[in-house]
Formats: sequence, C-alpha cells, structure tokens
Amino acid sequence: MTDPQIVLTERVQQALANVFGSEYADADPLIRPSQFADFQANVAMSLGKRLRKAPREVAEAIAGELSDFPGTVEVSGPGFLNIKLDDSWIAEEASKLLQDPRAGVGVTTPPQTVVVDYSAPNAAKEMHVGHLRTTIVGDAMARTLEHLGNRVIRQNHLGDWGTPFGMLIEHLLDIGEDAAVAQLEAGMGTEFYQAARQKFEGEETFKTRARTRVTKLQSGDPDTLRLWHVFMDATVRYFNKIYAMLGVTLTDDDIAGESMYNPMLEKTCDDLAAMGVAVMSEGALCVFPPGFTTSDDKPLPLMIRKSDGGYGYASTDMAAIRYRVDDLKSDRILYVVGADQALHFQMVFASAQLAGWLPDTVSAEHVQIGMMLGKDGRRFKTRSGESIKLTDLLEEAIERATAAIDERGYDDVTKADIAHAVGMGAVKYADLSVSHDSAYVFDFDRMLGFTGNTGPYMQYATARIRSIFRKGEVEAAAVRGPIKVREEVERALALHLLGFGEVVEQVGALVEPHRLCAYLFEIASLFSTFYEQCPVLKEGVDAETRAYRLALCALTLRVLETGLDLLGVPVPERM
Ligand code: ARG
Repeated sequence: MTDPQIVLTERVQQALANVFGSEYADADPLIRPSQFADFQANVAMSLGKRLRKAPREVAEAIAGELSDFPGTVEVSGPGFLNIKLDDSWIAEEASKLLQDPRAGVGVTTPPQTVVVDYSAPNAAKEMHVGHLRTTIVGDAMARTLEHLGNRVIRQNHLGDWGTPFGMLIEHLLDIGEDAAVAQLEAGMGTEFYQAARQKFEGEETFKTRARTRVTKLQSGDPDTLRLWHVFMDATVRYFNKIYAMLGVTLTDDDIAGESMYNPMLEKTCDDLAAMGVAVMSEGALCVFPPGFTTSDDKPLPLMIRKSDGGYGYASTDMAAIRYRVDDLKSDRILYVVGADQALHFQMVFASAQLAGWLPDTVSAEHVQIGMMLGKDGRRFKTRSGESIKLTDLLEEAIERATAAIDERGYDDVTKADIAHAVGMGAVKYADLSVSHDSAYVFDFDRMLGFTGNTGPYMQYATARIRSIFRKGEVEAAAVRGPIKVREEVERALALHLLGFGEVVEQVGALVEPHRLCAYLFEIASLFSTFYEQCPVLKEGVDAETRAYRLALCALTLRVLETGLDLLGVPVPERM
C-alpha cells in the first residue's frame, strides 16, 4: 500500500504505541491533506485531553518518535503535526507504482462473493430513465468489486411476471406475434402496454380473456408459457440493445427475473408461517418486522401472500434473499434500486433477519438511487409530459456529441466511434460523478461540456496523454521509469497518484463511485497544469528529463485508464 495517508497513519500509530503504550496503537491519528504541508495530523488535540497533557507536548513527543521518517514533521500552533514528505520518497513510491500493473489497487483477501442486483427494468412497461442510473451505477460497482478480486454475481431482477401479463399476451395474440415482436424490439413496450390496458378497461370479453390467460400462465400451460417467452425474448432484445449501446457488462446469463422465483414462493411462505415469522392478517400472510409502524402507530405488514393467494413483489424478494445467501453463497448483496423503495428493502432485510435467512455475516445493502430530474427540477419527462424513451435519449447524446466534434476533420468511421464514446461517456460519467442517492438533474449541455468534471473532459485528458506517446513514438506500457520529482507540479501530481489504490478500495467498501470521479478529475487537472509547465517532448528538453516526465505521463495514463474502465466510461483513442 503506497497511499501516503495510510503509510503515515501506520507510522504515527507506531509512534503513539512507542511513546504512550500499545493501547494507543490503533488510535486514529486523524491525518488529513493540509494547505500548510502535505498532511496534518490532529491526534495530539484529542489525545491531550485523554492523557491530561498539553496537546503541544503530546505532539512534540510524537514528532520526536518520527525521526527516521521519510520527510519532515513540525509541530505548529496548539499541537498540530505538519507533515511534509521527502521528494525522494514520493519519486520512489511513484516509480514502484509504475512497475505495478494494478497501479496500487489491492486485492481483497479473502475475496468476497458479492451479488450486485441492478438495472432490473420491468417488461410490462418501457425501460425508463430511472433504470438508466441503476444500470450505470450498478455496472460501475460490479466492475470495481471484480477488479478488487471479489467474485461478483450480477443479478438482473427483471420485472417479468405478474397479472398484467394476461392482458399483454392476449394483446400479442390480437396483433399477431410478428408485429408484437417488432414493436417490443423497437422499445415500444409502453405503447404496447397502454394498448392492452385500454382494451382491458373497455372491453368485457378482452378482460375475461386476459383473466383466463393469467390463470393459464400461473398454472404453467405450455402454450401460454411459449407466448410469454415470445414476449419476454423480444423485450430482452430491446434491453440488450441499450446495454450494448452503453457498454454495460450485463448478459443474458445475469437475468434472474421475478419469474425465476415462482417455484420457490410457496415454500418461502410456508416456511415463514411454520416458523411463526409470518402470520395471517385479514386473510393475507404477513411478516410484521419489529420497529415498522403505520402513520397511526399500528404494526406495518410486509405482505408475502395476498388474501386471494397471489404473490407479489415482497414475496419474490423474500425468496430472492434466501436464494442469494444459501445458494449463491454471497457475503454481500448490493441492491442498486431507486431510493423510493427504501422502506421495502428495510422491511425485507428485517424480515429475512427474523427468519434467520440473513445472518450477521452477510451484509445486505440498499444502494439508493436518487431521482433523475429535468432542468426544471421535476421528474425527468418530455415536454409533452410522457416519459422519455431510453434509446432516443442515448441517440440524442450521440448526435450532440457528433455535433461537438464535427469540425475536427475526422473521417466518418472515426467520427462515429468518437461520438459514440463521448455521448455514452458523458451520460455515464454524469450519473456517476454525483453521489448515487442525491437527486440529479439531467442536462445535456452540462454533461457534454469539455471542461469541468465531465465525461468528455476526462476522455480528452486521457486521449491527450496517449497522443504524447504517439508523437514521441514511445509505448506507454513499456515505460519503466524511474519517476523523479523536481518541479512543484511534478511533485503534486506524483503524490496524488499514490492515492489511487486507496480510492478504489473505498469505492468498493462504501459504494461511492463519485469518489473515484472526483479523484480522477483532480489527477486530470494536476496533469494539465504539469503539462503546461513542464515540456516533455519539446526540443531542448534533455534526455533524462524527457525520460522521467514520460514515466510520470505513463503512470498518469495508467491511473486514468484503469479508473475510467472501472467506471465503465470508454476512452476513444483520439478526440
Ligand atoms: N423492477 C424493479 C423496479 O423497476 C426493481 C427491482 C429491484 N430488485 C429487487 N430485488 N427488488 O422498480
């Protein structure tokens, strides 16, 4: 681990143990980046109180113990420790990092089995803009956790079952299989649903047909199941079109839709009832997890079997959590789902704990996804008020990106490639760079901007370093260093590069991809200042300087490329 903050934490803890005894070995030294030095440690302030000593005295004792430290430690003010690392240490650590293909990112030991439940659009409706965010954030988490050495199991919990499928199948028969398939593949799921719904509400005979069809579907009638498959396969082909456009790693093997749990639902309910975890209430089977109450203070039920014997969303999630713990053997389950479902998941987790299906050793986390807003601050919609079709939205991003790079003189094929990467990169990065649970304003102009913390800026910064290597006719991957730090900006860039591994680990632990965005943005900005002030290939730059600066470029490139790849943001070769 080369992250200076971690290295310093360990050193100061060692010093604390030496001076004050081993019981202080795991006190948090509170090391933070500082404007007066590289870092500041504030531990002496709190420790002073605990030891009944003046903080300054405590700070001096710690500083005295840090004599073999690769830098300088000064006590300032009432007892702050100002820590400045030696240039040679920074250069050495950065050089080591350049030899490391993982650029300092550790491997989780032992690896965890992590289920990531994400995307999960509903087949009876169009995949809408809200699903875009869970798809993008979930995919970044799956990539990151995998890179950290974990076994990641993607679960696409499609909404592919329920009573609407009776009317959907009957409508499919009415318009003919081929026409239906064409419509669904084109992403007209909402129109399809609305047409079915209209008949269901207006025509008695259709309503009866739809109801009979539901019963047939539930009893496993082969012909009905075949029609359900026709419907679902066409719908999934549309979802796959979106995943392919976005470069999302979900495949058909990751589909674990609601229907998959059908055979388990009866036993799920029976087992919960037999344990006494679920009880009958007004004809329905319910779990009343402690601590959940209605607005008038009555116990709040999680209904797992309706009074008509039907199962719903909660039944499926109870079966799913048991399956993920027992069969998939997960250590951790991430539910990347809209924040508006927070209560549902709290109740599912609490109920599963009651049943002993979610042991303390398994962590279930609802990764809340904030709402996507329009520029007007309301739920994102078209001007006419209906929700926006996802393929249209993504195509618009690509069109706008095409316009933005139109003047740059690329041939059509190259231009199309770049525009695709920039358009999708912009949409994805915009989603990832704000914390996942905050509401977020969808704004093409901002996300496609080439300055600021945007996808295109990050892509441009990366492509620019690649072009340095092209011009210099050097293979970036073959650069071995060493890195040296002579100028202030070189030092700042190298120091910051040392923190990459720690940031990635934090993203994995805290499910906060926006931290990685902020970090990479800082790297790109530092690089940009470095490149302005420190010529690399220019005539007159001596061979030694050129070599170590190229090495610094190579490490920066590796960090940016790896980081953007973990986020799922593509980088075009040139821009
Ligand atoms: N299909 C659901 C929706 O669109 C999301 C499913 C999330 N996953 C789960 N295990 N409930 O709201």
